[in-house]
Amino acid sequence: MSSHAGTAQWQYVLPNKRKVSPKEPFSAYFRKVSEMASDMRALQSETCGYQPRLYQEDCRLEGAVPAEWADLIITSPPYINNYDYADATRLEMTMMGEIEGWKDLQGAVRTHLVRSCTQHVSAYASDVYQILKNPLLRPILDELEPTVMALDAEREMHGGKKNYHAMIVHYFLDLAQVWMQMRRISRSGSSVCFVIGDSAPYGIHVPVEQWLGRLALAAGFKSFEFSKFRDRNIKWKNRKHQIPLHEGHLWIHG
Ligand SMILES: C[S@@+](CC[C@H](N)C(=O)[O-])C[C@H]1O[C@@H](n2cnc3c(N)ncnc32)[C@H](O)[C@@H]1O
Repeated sequence: MSSHAGTAQWQYVLPNKRKVSPKEPFSAYFRKVSEMASDMRALQSETCGYQPRLYQEDCRLEGAVPAEWADLIITSPPYINNYDYADATRLEMTMMGEIEGWKDLQGAVRTHLVRSCTQHVSAYASDVYQILKNPLLRPILDELEPTVMALDAEREMHGGKKNYHAMIVHYFLDLAQVWMQMRRISRSGSSVCFVIGDSAPYGIHVPVEQWLGRLALAAGFKSFEFSKFRDRNIKWKNRKHQIPLHEGHLWIHG
């Protein structure tokens, strides 16, 4: 039988909650795969014969998409919320024999991902102030640097001493590279839509969409606007901080 343990969103397991009726694993797996195949068939029948192409590449680096190819880019990048996308692949990769355990994720997965969690940046934490000098970060340095210093000071007051200061430097450096690539592949007059939310590690606000907008302008786009679709962190008392956050579409034009 598959596990009786309850689960929450993402990869979290709730050991004290039990599933009402745990499924037999192979039939559960087959049902899920069939559901995905039927979704894909339904959508493919609406594409008027257009064949999608998939590239397994790192969006920070120059890849196979030719210059000035796109006129609309829609994407949902990782938020800077300390969610470990590499860990989310651990169960499947272990089952498929691609890794032996958690320690293999660093080389097999993390190095290919945008750095949006502290587990990903601990090795570079001591170089933060050197990395801040990277010219790609110059367009936001006036606000980024004081925020990094505030997070660095704040971490000393917490037992976990989380490297949020390193996380934000690497996140914006990675996204600055992504904007360079998006400018390269998009035509003049095109639009980009980012689904994005802001963040407040240790209660220190990081205005993510504003900084991403400024990085996009520095990469050569002409304008940006943010349209909020959801408030976050307002309904209940967050035990870590009470900064109101939001989520929405960051539109970039030019
Ligand atoms: C918020 S999720 C969105 C996933 C998907 N678009 C969806 O709606 O379900 C962000 C995704 O970005 C991927 N990602 C992170 N770093 C990347 C990189 N350097 N290049 C390409 N994809 C990356 C993550 O693995 C994750 O699947």
